[in-house]
Parts: sequence; C-alpha cells; structure tokens
Amino acid sequence: MANVTFTSPAMKKDLTVYAIAGDNGTLLALAQANQVPVHFECENGECGSCAVQVSVLSDKTPMAISLTEKEKTALKLAGKITQAQITDAEVNDMPPPWRLACQYIVRDEDILVKF
Ligand code: FES
Repeated sequence: MANVTFTSPAMKKDLTVYAIAGDNGTLLALAQANQVPVHFECENGECGSCAVQVSVLSDKTPMAISLTEKEKTALKLAGKITQAQITDAEVNDMPPPWRLACQYIVRDEDILVKF
C-alpha cells in the first residue's frame, strides 16, 4: 500500500490516496480514479501535457525510476529532463524530478505529486 499525495494550485487542498501495491496502474489512472485534475491529452506518453513533479517521501530506496523511451523523449522536448538526469536514473537509480503521469507506474512507495 502506497500513499500518493497530490498537491496543486488547481485543488482546494492536498489529497492523499492509497494505491494498492502490485496494481501496476499509472499515476494518471490513479488521479482519474480519485477525480484529481491532472491535465492530459494523449494518454500515450507523446504530448507531455501530463508532466508532474514526483518526490519520493519514504526513506526506502526509490522504486519507480525507469522511464519509458516515450517518457524520455516527451520530457526532453518539454525541457523537463536533461540527459544527465536520464543517465542518473539509469545508472545511479536517482529518480528524475519530472515524470509523465500517463507513463509512471505507481509502486509500493509514498510519493508527493505536484502539478
Ligand atoms: Fe500525453 Fe501523458 S497525456 S504524455
């Protein structure tokens, strides 16, 4: 069970929801299921409109690090990730600050999502 907290000027107050471990749902699907107004267009990792800032809140080793090729490309085009951050994610397991909600698979870790 993971706590996912959404925060945004578009929301009256922060919302923490519980994601079921092993569910393998995307962050966007979790947001939609809980009426969290994360912006999206393609839902396919191509437009970059669902970019969100994700921070890991637990002290455990971050888990949801791997980026899809589509995610890397869309975030690079949007200026939200550098090649150095991609390398850090792939080599050093350092989670990048921006992710695509439609590509991010929620894992069993507590995260803060800003949008
Ligand atoms: Fe288009 Fe996520 S909705 S990249």
